[in-house]
Amino acid sequence: MPSSIPVLTIDGPSGSGKGTVSRLVAQALGWHYLDSGALYRAVGLAAAWEQIDLSDAEAVAACAARTRIRFDGDGEGEPKVWVNGKDATHQLRMETAGAAASAIAAHSQVRSALTELQRSFRRLPGLVADGRDMGTVIFPDAPYKVFLTASAEERARRRHKQLKEKGVSVNFDSLLHEIAARDERDASRAVAPLKPADDALFLDSTGRSIGEVVQQVLAIVPASLRRP
Ligand code: DC
Repeated sequence: MPSSIPVLTIDGPSGSGKGTVSRLVAQALGWHYLDSGALYRAVGLAAAWEQIDLSDAEAVAACAARTRIRFDGDGEGEPKVWVNGKDATHQLRMETAGAAASAIAAHSQVRSALTELQRSFRRLPGLVADGRDMGTVIFPDAPYKVFLTASAEERARRRHKQLKEKGVSVNFDSLLHEIAARDERDASRAVAPLKPADDALFLDSTGRSIGEVVQQVLAIVPASLRRP
């Protein structure tokens, strides 16, 4: 039976502004927030801690099923993420965790192991779900869907600035190269490839401010569902 709890899905490549936009939109609506990328990153990290071969789909899926992931806070600011009882917030934002997430996300068994967990975030008054396949696979019945993108150069610039602010030094060209390689892997994988849902609003954030994009996204949710 279709759920009556509203979901707004925001899918797109890394660096499109998706994370910031999704958080601000969730805050403005007073809805819950799901950072699905953090789940894949957490599993990638847990698998690395256990020295599991990331290409071993069954072993990583078993690891996904037993990994305990907890978010501190919901929608307000950047939440802390606890993986198997350890504060992994900082480690999860590193490019190495992103690369591990992208590698394990290609296994259908791993994606299945995370499906129910992701759907369990759908609670009243509503959910903003941020990821790659939120509108296509996890919440295909979501009434509100956005696909947010930006040029690879702009995404690399944003990521570079973000990492610099966090005190992580990375070379711009290698970042651009990594982003392009990750896009290619995410878009060409056989299961749940990164692609807009047929019924998604396509938004390009290149040259636009976060505030502008947030307003464009909010405009697709009826005023009656927004926080009074
Ligand atoms: O959004 P992010 O950079 O935190 O995501 C990290 C990786 O996880 C990304 O390369 C692809 C994967 N991912 C996915 O396959 N499906 C999702 N719903 C979210 C992330």
